[in-house]
Amino acid sequence: MSNAKQILSLLRSHAEGDEEQFLSIALQVAAAEARQGHRSTAEEIRTAVETVRGQRGDRPTVPIAFAKPRGDLSSILDMRDPQIRVDDVILSEALRSRLDAIIRQQQKRTWLREHNRTPSRKLLLAGPPGSGKTMTSEALAGTLRLPLYVVRLESLITRFMGETVAKLRLVFDETLQRRGVYLFDEFDAVGGHRAATNDVAEMRRVLNSFLQFMEEPSTTDSLIVAATNHPELLDRALQRRFDGVLEFGMPSDEQVRDIVRRHIRPLKYPRIAWKSVSKSARGLSQSEIARAAEEAVKEAILSEKDTLKTENLITQIEARQGMRTVFAKEG
Ligand SMILES: Nc1ncnc2c1ncn2[C@@H]1O[C@H](COP(=O)(O)OP(=O)(O)O)[C@@H](O)[C@H]1O
Ligand SMILES: [Mg+2]
Repeated sequence: MSNAKQILSLLRSHAEGDEEQFLSIALQVAAAEARQGHRSTAEEIRTAVETVRGQRGDRPTVPIAFAKPRGDLSSILDMRDPQIRVDDVILSEALRSRLDAIIRQQQKRTWLREHNRTPSRKLLLAGPPGSGKTMTSEALAGTLRLPLYVVRLESLITRFMGETVAKLRLVFDETLQRRGVYLFDEFDAVGGHRAATNDVAEMRRVLNSFLQFMEEPSTTDSLIVAATNHPELLDRALQRRFDGVLEFGMPSDEQVRDIVRRHIRPLKYPRIAWKSVSKSARGLSQSEIARAAEEAVKEAILSEKDTLKTENLITQIEARQGMRTVFAKEG
């Protein structure tokens, strides 16, 4: 690339607000300088890029180390330092604006409380596997700068109902003590009507306790997030208890493109035929598309290419489609 072209693409990425692209062009300039023997100039550019990256602080800045759960809780709650924000999740506009409303209420919760209102905090995330429910929960925590506590359902639910309810009580007590995002992932395990006869009555009672606990007022405004791949298993009474039900779906063509773009950085992708890519990706989840893009990037790195071609991407997408058929046959 000539100097003028480099400056042009720098300007374009700046105009588009694509900082990652901006920095990656700067690094290309550094590489070109190095090839011409201008080592110190190359080094200067690289250092400047590192400085920008450092200042930007990609990770959510967390003011204090979050406290890890102690005692009995340590086996039930898995604490995670959120690494992403809502901007990192590719969502439909409708879903995004609902999330933004929740975030806003949480951020202004003191103000709401001054007017005797409470922020939305009980959310049900429903949708197919791999559509970003777990990711969104982490991103919510990251955006609100709260710790994420994932409830380990396998250690919460025991064979003894009394014990399960007692553990659930511990979790809810913690939500009242420590502000955070509490995620009940794969929630249908608690909330579903189990088919096995003996289980049904018992799980029903656990579920009733859950509903009861969820009604308790909370001064911490901790978020209770339940995620499920099978919303149809949850009855209406349950759905009504949540402040919001967020429905996730299969990705649109536009979302396919955005997910791929996000994953193939910092590779260049000058002429990807997005229509063909979307077409080949029909039926794949957001997660499967992300994985395919990731594989394509790894292949490019290993064959020392810095550009991604449509065909490389489609090959990986088709491989994912192939895996789907294998599993479909098994299931
Ligand atoms: N909406 C999305 N936007 C961007 N990446 C996504 C999205 N959904 C899924 N992914 C990718 O797939 C991975 C798994 O998604 P996950 O949140 O676990 O799905 P779910 O909980 O709905 O089954 C994520 O970590 C991310 O890499
Ligand atoms: Mg999940």
